[in-house]
Amino acid sequence: STDWKLPDHQKIAKDKIIAVVVLDGWGEFKEDQYNCIHVAETPVMDSLKTHAPNRWRLVKAHGNAVGLPSDDDMGNSEVGHNALGAGRIFAQGAKLVDSALATGKIYGGEGFKYIKESFETGTLHLIGLLSDGGVHSRLDQLQVRASEHGAKRIRVHILTDGRDVLDGSSVGFVETLEKDLEDLCKKGVDAKVASGGGRMYVTMDRYENDWDVVKRGWDAQVLGEAPYKFRSAVEAVKKLRAEPNANDQYLPPFVIVDENDKAVGPIVDGDAVVTFNFRADRMVMMAKALEYENFDKFDRVRFPKIRYAGMLQYDGELKLPSHYLVSPPEIDRTSGEYLVKNGIRTFACSETVKFGHVTFFWNGNRSGCFNPELEEYVEIPSDVGITFNQEPKMKALEISEKAKEAILSRRFDQIRINIPNGDMVGHTGDIAATKVACKVTDEAVKIIIDAIEQVGGIYVITADHGNAEDMVKRNKAGDPLLDKNGNIQILTSHTLQPVPIAIGGPGLAPNIRFRQDLPGAGLANVAATVINLHGFEAPKDYEPSLIEVTDS
Ligand code: 3PG
Ligand code: CO
Repeated sequence: STDWKLPDHQKIAKDKIIAVVVLDGWGEFKEDQYNCIHVAETPVMDSLKTHAPNRWRLVKAHGNAVGLPSDDDMGNSEVGHNALGAGRIFAQGAKLVDSALATGKIYGGEGFKYIKESFETGTLHLIGLLSDGGVHSRLDQLQVRASEHGAKRIRVHILTDGRDVLDGSSVGFVETLEKDLEDLCKKGVDAKVASGGGRMYVTMDRYENDWDVVKRGWDAQVLGEAPYKFRSAVEAVKKLRAEPNANDQYLPPFVIVDENDKAVGPIVDGDAVVTFNFRADRMVMMAKALEYENFDKFDRVRFPKIRYAGMLQYDGELKLPSHYLVSPPEIDRTSGEYLVKNGIRTFACSETVKFGHVTFFWNGNRSGCFNPELEEYVEIPSDVGITFNQEPKMKALEISEKAKEAILSRRFDQIRINIPNGDMVGHTGDIAATKVACKVTDEAVKIIIDAIEQVGGIYVITADHGNAEDMVKRNKAGDPLLDKNGNIQILTSHTLQPVPIAIGGPGLAPNIRFRQDLPGAGLANVAATVINLHGFEAPKDYEPSLIEVTDS
């Protein structure tokens, strides 16, 4: 049983209103023309950096610092917000799956035994993101699984990436996969790709932004119906990419058909299904469609009786899916829960596409709030059916206006928001639009800081990982890489860069500043920092607070 009572901080007063602002995809990088944050007008963020030397610093946001397998892993929003909220570093999905595969434990687990029951007579379907991005899934984890014996008939339903990896890389990943499946066929396993589509257009929506995305996936994967039909996945991806403005993230849904034009792998009664993404946010909706008897988000036409398991359990509150191959990280005793249990009234807000980041991820992959009497979570609907380079301002100003209202109302002690633009527009690879995104982000920050000034509060401005600060693929020396046509290779993904954290506001006593003895600190150090600023000591096992209170 947890002792939720936090001791009072000896030197920091309580009752300050604190704004915690997460700039999604806002890293620190050298100032060149592909650094959109540098190129954009960002006077507010610039001044935080230059005018208060002990109140601005960098923290690590990638690799081991956020529980990823290695320091070659870029940061992402899931692990970033988990670390920010939980104050400790948990081995994350990517790492847990790696070790379950390495030890073979995955095959002895409840989830694998459950789906295995179908292997004799049914098909094993594997649905997920096909790349080595390591954010939602990893191709090598799928390869180990696919080559595991037991299943006699395997169908893979691929989602092409281009968002956590370079656009255009889908072709290579599909070639690798089809080659692996051919090798399996030589061993007597009937293994094929059955359907596909681009991740942003097919299946991988999140936070119920647009159920049509999931429906397009359902139609191809389960019903075997799609506007495009091909004889192989390599052919599919090559042909679809040859269309004008084609983009891996948005490839239309397709099914693979046999010589009689019949889909090779619809999902039917008696089959087993695994969604092989370890990350939750973009698989939860599909998991609901696969698992829930009662479901009204779209017409499933057919609801096959299958044995379904997730690579991980995606939502611990909803226990969804009920079967899974690897247990998710147990992210308990998050700062949000501690603070609410110590009476901190909390307001959280973002727009739909990032709403779960400052709620679900922040609270350790937990849906809902801890105490509705003390918490209010506000979701601003995102625009649907566009790519965000078309609307690079997104809802940044609406989010900060809502936060401003919450601050000025004095009804909350903590106001927590995520400003999505640097990340969501950065992922489109559109440099001009990303500059606009960075500028409006800075304007949103100003609205918050001004409101905090009015109520004598404190602000904490940070980010979850890099993205907009570097928009090109680079060689080891840091120079942009060219593709075979001599064009700059655009980087749509996140980066390995650290992110800034700035603290300030009239409520921050003049003798509070960043410590100098934590040069290697990361996002997990932020939770204890925020707890301190609320006037409490952080739990003992939290990563140390970034601040100190000097005597003068
Ligand atoms: C996505 O899901 O949009 C990307 O794969 C990762 O972006 P995020 O980690 O910033 O959400
Ligand atoms: Co992102």
